[in-house]
Parts: sequence; C-alpha cells; structure tokens
Amino acid sequence: MRMEQSTLGERRQPAVFITGAGGEVGHGLITALSGESSPDIVATDLRDLEQGLRELCAATYLADVCDRDALDRLLAMYQVKEIYHLAAVLSTRAELAPEVAHQVNVNGTVNILQIAAEQGRMYGEPVKVVFPSSIAAYGFGSLQEKTEVGAVTEYEHCKPSTMYGCNKLYCEHLGRYYAHSYRQLAKDSVQGDDKNRGVVDFRCVRYPGLISAETVPTGGTSDFVPEMLHAAARGDAYTCFVREDSRIPFMTMPEAIDATLQLAAAPRKELTQIVYNIASFNPSAGEVAELVKQYFPDASITFEPDERRQAIVDSWPEDLDCSAAHNDWGFTPKYTVEQAFDEYLVPRITKQYESKQ
Ligand code: SER
Repeated sequence: MRMEQSTLGERRQPAVFITGAGGEVGHGLITALSGESSPDIVATDLRDLEQGLRELCAATYLADVCDRDALDRLLAMYQVKEIYHLAAVLSTRAELAPEVAHQVNVNGTVNILQIAAEQGRMYGEPVKVVFPSSIAAYGFGSLQEKTEVGAVTEYEHCKPSTMYGCNKLYCEHLGRYYAHSYRQLAKDSVQGDDKNRGVVDFRCVRYPGLISAETVPTGGTSDFVPEMLHAAARGDAYTCFVREDSRIPFMTMPEAIDATLQLAAAPRKELTQIVYNIASFNPSAGEVAELVKQYFPDASITFEPDERRQAIVDSWPEDLDCSAAHNDWGFTPKYTVEQAFDEYLVPRITKQYESKQ
C-alpha cells in the first residue's frame, strides 16, 4: 500500500472518495475505477453497499453527506485526491420534500467542496471534484419555446423550475467559486489569476437522462425510458407518465461513466469551462416505446401523462449542444439510440432478467 507524506508530517493513504456510491452512477463508476490503477476507493452512502461493490472498494462507510463531522472523521485517515460527489435527491423526489432535497443537494455539496479545499490546502495539491449536474439545470417557459430552441449550450436557458434543477445549477456556481475565488480576500488565500493554482479542481458534467441495463432509477423524472424498457424485459405492463411526443436527451450508463472519467482525466489546461453538456441521443417517449416493442413484441405500453411530471419534462431541453465537451476533452457519443438498444441495453437486460427467473 502506497503512503504519502502530508505537510503535517502524517502519513495518509491516497484515496478516491465517492459519495452516493450505492446509486446507479456509483455502481458503474466503482466498477470502472476499480479496474484502473487509481488510488484506493473510499465509498459512502446512506445505505449499505451491495457485497459485490464493497469488494471493489478499499473502505465503505455509512455516512450522510450533510454530516460534516462524520465526513471529517472518516476522511481523517486519507489524502483525498479525487472526489466523485454523486449523492443527491433527484427531481421527482425533491418536489415531494424540497427543503430536504436542498439540504442534501446543496449543503452536502458545500461540505464536500470545503473538505476538498481543506485537503487541497493541506497537501498543496488541488483536489479534483467531479460533480454530476443535470439537464434539470435548464428551464423553458413553454413547450413551444423548448421546441423552437432545440439544442442548447451550457449557459443559455438556465432557469430551472424544480428544486433539484435549482440545486444543481447553484452547485455548479459553488464549484466555480471554490475553484477560482474561495476565500479570495483572506490574507493566506492561495487563489490567483492562474486557474491551475486553486485548491479545488472542480469539473462538472450535465447528465441527460441515463439508461442502465443493470439498474432502474428511483425518484427522477427522466425515469420513464429506463422504466419502460425494464418493465418490458420483465414482462410487466408499463404506463408511461409523459406524452408520446415528449423529447429529452439521454445516454447509456456506460457512456456516462466513460465520459465522466474522460473529463476527470483531461489536462486542466485543456478545459475552457467548468460545466459540460453530454448526451448521445434524444428520442421521444413514443419512439422509445416503438423500439422497445421491436425487441419485446408482447410489451404493453400505454401513455397516461401526469400533468405535473409532464410539465417538468417539457421544461427540459429536447437536445444538448455537446460541442464544448467534444472540443475540450474529446467527448463523442458511442451509440445512436438504435445501437444502444441493439448492442448494450437489450442483450444485457435480457440476460439479467433470464438469470433471475
Ligand atoms: N435523471 C434526473 C432526474 O430525472 C435528471 O438528471 O431527476
């Protein structure tokens, strides 16, 4: 086990720290990171991680990202090199308890940023914080405006209508603040004009809806696509909560994980912005239903829009301009929606549910 000398003379073990590790993204990320020659993975979640995931981590802890003391205690043993801060309350669930969501999504993020700043300062080396933001950071006033605008770049139409979207957008700004301006008036501030000198190296991807063959999301509003597909694979009927013409961007989970790691690995000097859109395709809910039926001809899919969840989907963009991610760090979608079904989703999902029968 490699140990490094801290400026305080302590010997601490270098680590990659992951919050919300038991969620959908955590599953894929831990698996991908454990195959790399990166430092040990230290993972936290509110609930116990599955055995298979635990085995890939050097240490796992039950911890709430809102509990700063608990985080300090568990991280006292480590030199945190990188943080993937995945813990969040997603958009649908957040509307049921907005203040709780704010507590987790914002205060939890401030805790993480502060830990990164303190560790970065202590070791004289910036701590990389990789933060998943979301298409929920956008907000259109009307469906007509959304349709007319089409693909959006990162800094337009950011007027979110959900607590989750507000939280994500604000945390993007907080990340920028910790990276470039944290304690800017303090005498001992280590910030400067040189963006490479900060103590926090904050990088953010705005995820579209994510579709995994392994897991089904909970509490999100883009969940209609993964729910539809998984229901069909299980042989269950599915009632979709949005209209057939609802269109937002999506990508598969492995693509999202690859892109996240690609951004994390990009040389700092190549990054011209803090926040990057990523997405692979943007089928309508009706087009997804047609594809699902091609592979699962007996699938029963009906559409019974829930007006309020529909309004959230209608406020999100129908397409993302991902050219900054492409130009700065080489992001390229791996799949079209047809390829995603054919090469990843259907084969994996079928196998998964067969093995459960
Ligand atoms: N999947 C998220 C949600 O639906 C959006 O990023 O809340």
